[in-house]
Amino acid sequence: MSHQGKRRGEDGLGAVIDFLLANARLVLGVGGAAVLGIATLAVKRLIERAGKPLDGEKSDQKLMDGWEELSLVSASPKMLKKGIEGVVMKQIAAATKAHKAELNKPLEVAEKSVSEVKRQPLCVTLQERLQHYYQSQAVLSVADVNRAKQQALDICTEIQGFLHMKYPDMPLGEMHLGGSLLDDFQVVAADHACLLVPLHIEDTLWRPIPGEETILGNPQFWMVRRVNLEYFPRGRSFWDKFSLGGYLSSKMIVEVLNKTVMETMNWPSLSSTLDCVVRPVLGSQELKLEVVNEQSQLFISILPTLQLNDTILTAQLEVTGNFDNLWFQSFYTEETFKLAELDGGDNGIRKKCVKILKTICRNNPSLSRLSGQHLANVILHLSDKSPDWTEAALADRFQQAITEIIGYLEVGCLTSYFKQTVNLLSEFSEEEIDEMGFMLYCAVSGPEILLQA
Ligand SMILES: *[C@@H]1O[C@H](CO)[C@@H](O)[C@H](O)[C@H]1NC(C)=O
Ligand SMILES: *[C@@H]1O[C@H](CO)[C@@H](O)[C@H](O)[C@H]1NC(C)=O
Repeated sequence: MSHQGKRRGEDGLGAVIDFLLANARLVLGVGGAAVLGIATLAVKRLIERAGKPLDGEKSDQKLMDGWEELSLVSASPKMLKKGIEGVVMKQIAAATKAHKAELNKPLEVAEKSVSEVKRQPLCVTLQERLQHYYQSQAVLSVADVNRAKQQALDICTEIQGFLHMKYPDMPLGEMHLGGSLLDDFQVVAADHACLLVPLHIEDTLWRPIPGEETILGNPQFWMVRRVNLEYFPRGRSFWDKFSLGGYLSSKMIVEVLNKTVMETMNWPSLSSTLDCVVRPVLGSQELKLEVVNEQSQLFISILPTLQLNDTILTAQLEVTGNFDNLWFQSFYTEETFKLAELDGGDNGIRKKCVKILKTICRNNPSLSRLSGQHLANVILHLSDKSPDWTEAALADRFQQAITEIIGYLEVGCLTSYFKQTVNLLSEFSEEEIDEMGFMLYCAVSGPEILLQA
């Protein structure tokens, strides 16, 4: 190798790897083009992290010259494979090491965690690691869950009473606790709860318009149109005061609840009754309360929800953004029910898988955009492909789930299990997808990087 050629090669490392990976598809017998595609992203990411900018076109050309000079283009598939493995694995090992070092820092502070880690035998299988991770990280203590539930319910009663006093004729159903805290899907800490406020909407006066039929065309963002105005004029429905241009406005409803509940309720007085500090979270697009006492912190979201014709819609401005009339279609109930039903049928570990993945995504900042909804859908799709959900298959299903997620990221599409037209990844930027793909790709060869506390 000439001195010059070598130097050029180093300058154009990014391009070399691009080239290698572009050709890898043709020459490698490695399973799954998806994994290789993400590998390209992964390597780019690693180089960027190392502070080595990718070269422009010009150096690409230079590099190709050097490449041909060295006649590596016609290298045997075996050599090419070795080359890729060498580069990719070295980079991944370095990144993993750096990542571990980073993650280990806070561990040293927490004495308990250190002793737990020490107690672990050196050589454990992935299956054992997953079980340990689940028990030590995912699972919440019953006492914590009960305390959080009780706090949420106490506050629920107060808000319901207050709303009833302020708006005696507002057609509301019984406010209640919903979401992961109730369904045992919460992980790491019992620190958030959701209170559902069911709005009773007359189904003769309001019609749900599927997202596909609205201007925005997002199948998960519905609208609710006022109908039959000629027979039942404006004012017949209580909710007419919350309509905007003929549609029920999620934003107006949230704003009114913000004004009446969040800004008007006497939180200091309630705090002293409940023996904790209860206060609205300012600057949020959600109706959110913070409940703090010496031992715990709990966030409670208040979520207006309605059901029309079997469709459950929620007012979630943080999801629907600047559009005042959009309602988010929630499949949470169906997803949760289906997972429980499948697990009930074969004594399966689907829920456990979802909870392990949720914990991982919560503990790894680069994966934090993957929500319980994404993960539940991944496991539901996987259930259609894999019959074995016994405890003994935990590690296999886990690894399979990681590969599946990489596949979804690569094509930028994860369809909702309950509505084919909904792409659950549609809101992600390319950057975010790269970031997640990189982390998960590294985990294909070393799943333990995901399982740090
Ligand atoms: C409620 O009002 C407060 C200001 O009083 C604001 O900070 C918060 O973002 C509002 N919440 C919502 C959901 O609009
Ligand atoms: C309710 O759903 C049925 C079946 O999907 C549909 O035919 C009907 O038009 C819907 N009703 C309203 C009020 O949207």
